Amino acid sequence: MDMARIIDGKALAAGIREKVARRVALLKAEHGVTPGLAVMQVGDDPASRVYTRNKAKQTVEAEMASFKFDLAAETTQKDLLRKISELNEDSRVNGILVQLPLPDRIEEHAVINAIDPAKDVDGFHTINTGLLATGQDALVPCTPLGCLMMLRDALGDLGGQKALVLGRSNIVGKPMAMLLIKENCTVTVAHSRTRDLAAEVRQADVLVAAAGRPRMVKGDWIKPGATVIDVGINRVPIGEDEKTRLVGDVDFDEAVTVAGAITPVPGGVGPMTIACLLHNTVAACCRQSGIDLPED
Ligand code: GUN
Repeated sequence: MDMARIIDGKALAAGIREKVARRVALLKAEHGVTPGLAVMQVGDDPASRVYTRNKAKQTVEAEMASFKFDLAAETTQKDLLRKISELNEDSRVNGILVQLPLPDRIEEHAVINAIDPAKDVDGFHTINTGLLATGQDALVPCTPLGCLMMLRDALGDLGGQKALVLGRSNIVGKPMAMLLIKENCTVTVAHSRTRDLAAEVRQADVLVAAAGRPRMVKGDWIKPGATVIDVGINRVPIGEDEKTRLVGDVDFDEAVTVAGAITPVPGGVGPMTIACLLHNTVAACCRQSGIDLPED
């Protein structure tokens, strides 16, 4: 049986981080500028803890300035908005990221839209989503940007491909669809209420699965030879004891026998997200400092 090519997100992400580090060194040496990223978390969601810690760690590894704020679960929206406004004014901070989800009593849109759009390295501000949707220069959400880079690596030009995005979140599904339209794909956005999902998926040359349901996409849903990007990170139990493991939204063992190329979980999309965040921070820094993004 033919097996799909495995798209190595870990290796691609390492390459992006190296390029980021070279650009950071150049910005320091030639312009006396050090890009800085502020990462904020409200409350102590354990998965968010891991993500924010990794974001801060990799910021430091790229020799950028890292500012980390772990705010108590009881933090009020007013206090959070005040902190964001301080960071908006702080010239050492080029990027501001508020880890989601936020506690229920805090309005997510109010918080995201309080971030200076020029510092919105998550690309979630209404200004940046609007710029992306209208094909203008924008800060682009990190996970979809990472997915696009993997697709370009696997396929080169994406023009004319039938792409299906499974999931319609603001963080992944919607911006992913916008990026694929920009790449001249024919794009379908499917979700939990889509009728005959399997039949829709079977049409797709390119599948981006971001539904948040473990191993939801079966092998016989996939068009033979298709390129499959699995955004899911689901922790599932193995056996009877406490042990768990990470699986994607795609049944990998089945899909790998049908697809042309596929991302693994872990080691696929995951590492690309933070690499793209570091890239966005350098790009935001250059833009704010009036410097052209240095090329290699
Ligand atoms: N929660 C899950 N993904 C993300 C992300 O890309 N950015 C932020 N801020 N929160 C998230």
